[in-house]
Formats: sequence, C-alpha cells, structure tokens
Amino acid sequence: MGTKLANIRGMEILDSRGNPTVRVFIELTDGTTAVASVPSGASTGENEALELRDGDARRYAGKGVLKAVANVNEKIAPEVTGMDVFQQALIDRKMILLDGTENKSNLGANAILGVSMAVARAAAASAGLPLYEYLGGSGARRVPVPCMNILNGGEHADNSVDFQEFMAVPLGAPTFCEGLRYVAETFHVLKGILKGRGLATSVGDEGGFAPNVESNEEAIEIIIQAIEKAGYKPGIDIAIALDSAATSFSTDGKSPYNLKWSGAGTMKSDDLIALAEQWVSKYPIVLWEDPLAEEDWEGFKDFTHRLGDKIEVVGDDVFVTNTKYIARGIEEGTANSSLIKLNQIGTVSETIEAVRMCRDAGWRYFISHRSGETEDTFLADFAVAMDGGHLKTGSASRSERIAKYNRLLEIEQELGESALYYWK
Ligand code: PGA
Ligand code: ZN
Repeated sequence: MGTKLANIRGMEILDSRGNPTVRVFIELTDGTTAVASVPSGASTGENEALELRDGDARRYAGKGVLKAVANVNEKIAPEVTGMDVFQQALIDRKMILLDGTENKSNLGANAILGVSMAVARAAAASAGLPLYEYLGGSGARRVPVPCMNILNGGEHADNSVDFQEFMAVPLGAPTFCEGLRYVAETFHVLKGILKGRGLATSVGDEGGFAPNVESNEEAIEIIIQAIEKAGYKPGIDIAIALDSAATSFSTDGKSPYNLKWSGAGTMKSDDLIALAEQWVSKYPIVLWEDPLAEEDWEGFKDFTHRLGDKIEVVGDDVFVTNTKYIARGIEEGTANSSLIKLNQIGTVSETIEAVRMCRDAGWRYFISHRSGETEDTFLADFAVAMDGGHLKTGSASRSERIAKYNRLLEIEQELGESALYYWK
C-alpha cells in the first residue's frame, strides 16, 4: 500500500533578497504534512537548471514565480498525486519526464525542486525519522564543518573586492557547536577591526561584511588578524576558504579576467594561478572554489595540477551539480571537489547522484546554500545525510543563514555521543 501523496500545493513567497520564490505544501494519505521552500542564486552558472520567472514587468520587475506555482498546482500535482512518498527517485523521474527538457525549462527547476524537497520531508515525517536520517541512513552522524562566509565581495556586495567569499573554517574545533562558536566570535572581532579602520560593517547577501578594502589580499590579511585577535591560531584552529566566483569577473566565461571591483586590472588564467600559488604558500588556505571561470576548463585543470595536492579545489559554476559536467571534470582532472547545490540541478535524487559520483571518484563535495535563501533548513539535514564533512551556509548574521546553523546545533545535540566532527 504505502503512504501516498494526497495533496500538493505551491505558493509564491519571498526569499532573503525580497525576490519571489516557490514554497510547496504536501499532504499525505496518512495525514502527514510537509513544506519546503526553494533558494535562488545570483552568481549563477550558465548551465544551471532553469529557474522559471514570469517575466511580467508589472510584478516584482518580472521576477514573479506564479507560472512555476501554477506548474506545481496544475501540471505536477495531477501527475504525482497517488504516488508512494517513499519512492523519491521515481517521483523525481516522473517530474523530469513531464518537463521533457534538459534544463527543466518547461516546468521550472524551482517548481520541480519545491515538490522534490517537500516529498523528502514528508516521507521522513511519515516514517518518524529526522530528515538527515531518512536521507542518509542510520550512519549519518557526521556534522559538517561550517565554512563561514565572513567577508563578501563580487556580485554579493557593493564593494571593491573581486573575490566573492572569504570563509573561516573552524577545522580544529572538537565539535560543530564549538566550531560555530570559533567562527561566530571571529565574525564579531572582524566587525571591530573594520570599525577601527573606518571601514563599513554593513553586510552582503550572505551576511558577511562588505568593506571597501584596498585589495583582495587586504581582505585576507584582515581576516587572519581577526582570527588571531579572537584568540585562535590561523591554520590550526581556523583556516581559510575562498570562493573567487571567477565567472563574475571573467570577460566571457574564461580568460582574460578583469578584476574590475578592486581596479587590479586584467589577468590571464596563468596570472590568477600564480597568485593563488603565492597565497596558498603564505596563508592557511584549505579550499578554493571557482578560482577560474566556468568555461576555463583548461585553466581549472592547470590550477588543480599545481595546487590540488595542497588544497581542495571546488568547481561550482563549471559543474553546476550536474553529473554530465562532474563526469567530465573527473575524466580531465579539472578539480578535486564539486560544489553541491540542490537548485542547480533541480531534484533531490539527482543531487544525491552528483554526490555519489564525487564520492566514487575519491573527490570531496561541498554542500552549499544559495545567496538568495529562505528560512527553510533542509540544507542542514541534507549536509549531514550526505556525509561530506563540510558545508557553506553564510555568515553569523541574517536569520536565513542562522536558521541552518541552529538546525545543525539541534542535530548535533540529537546525535549526542555518536556525533562526529572532523575536517578530512
Ligand atoms: P550564488 O552564490 O548562490 O549567488 O550562486 C553562491 C556561490 O557562488 O557559491
Ligand atoms: Zn560559488
């Protein structure tokens, strides 16, 4: 018999940037209810699954999602109602076939993912399991190291920093709870340092500070100062991770690069790699995401060849959580890790496939939020379920980010003595 999907309803809500996004409610035949909300990116990869927007300039400057909501209510619901809620992959497959396009442009990845996430959550609730355990099994007990994005630049902030994210990584902490404290304290100390230098302490989209520092390098030096001043040892207690999001300052998806925000001028892939080599030898950097742009596969490969044995090299825009691109990356040695974002591919089961492919290849995978988020904490459970050991979900400010951290605190407490926390 099983428990079946009885009612599915979508609605338009707002994300953390005040832009519309999709929320989906599901009711099961056993009376269980669940809800899930879809995030939205800003520095998106060209090959991401399509986020369907209305394009009606009279509403939210064209960003409304009423079409996606209608697709949930009128197209997806009639097709999947009656299906067994525990058959996640089958339900996802049904939606993919119903959409019929490679990038989910027909129904919208926002419509499809909303249903997919709500199905997973409803199944977990019906089974009486926490979501992380339903998705990850009874072995899911590793709580991820929170790579906290404390300084924002690029397309996430209006400042002079080209690199999008500077993250503090509490890899020396004994537990998630302590790790979160290490980096939250560092965040507060950083605020004081910025203030002292007469720099702005307003925050960017992911809650990190967005000061007009002189250069990308000054940003990293200030962070190291903050780590020390907070009482921690750089590289031992807290290391650094970066997301250049290089597509956003490349001229056409590849080299040359125009470091426009800082006024540092034009650089080729090779210059950026040489700079990274210098930084990695000088600073406690353990992870570097999108050091090159999404079409610069050669540059990426070169970067990985030169730095891949020292740090985790993560592909975001280049792989877009899509097994087609991750497989190519594994084949060519493009990186040694993939970013994992549910809405880049558009279903829970395809996201799990992407994780599996990384794991099978001996790659790491880095679970991630989007710069536009909601109060939904799905990501926290998902990260524990996927057992990847680290995640990024923003800074120690903005409730849509904190909600995920708080959920991880709960999970760690729930796991008690069985909880694991380690970097590698
Ligand atoms: P996005 O940023 O959500 O705006 O794409 C996150 C990232 O680039 O990792
Ligand atoms: Zn990124």
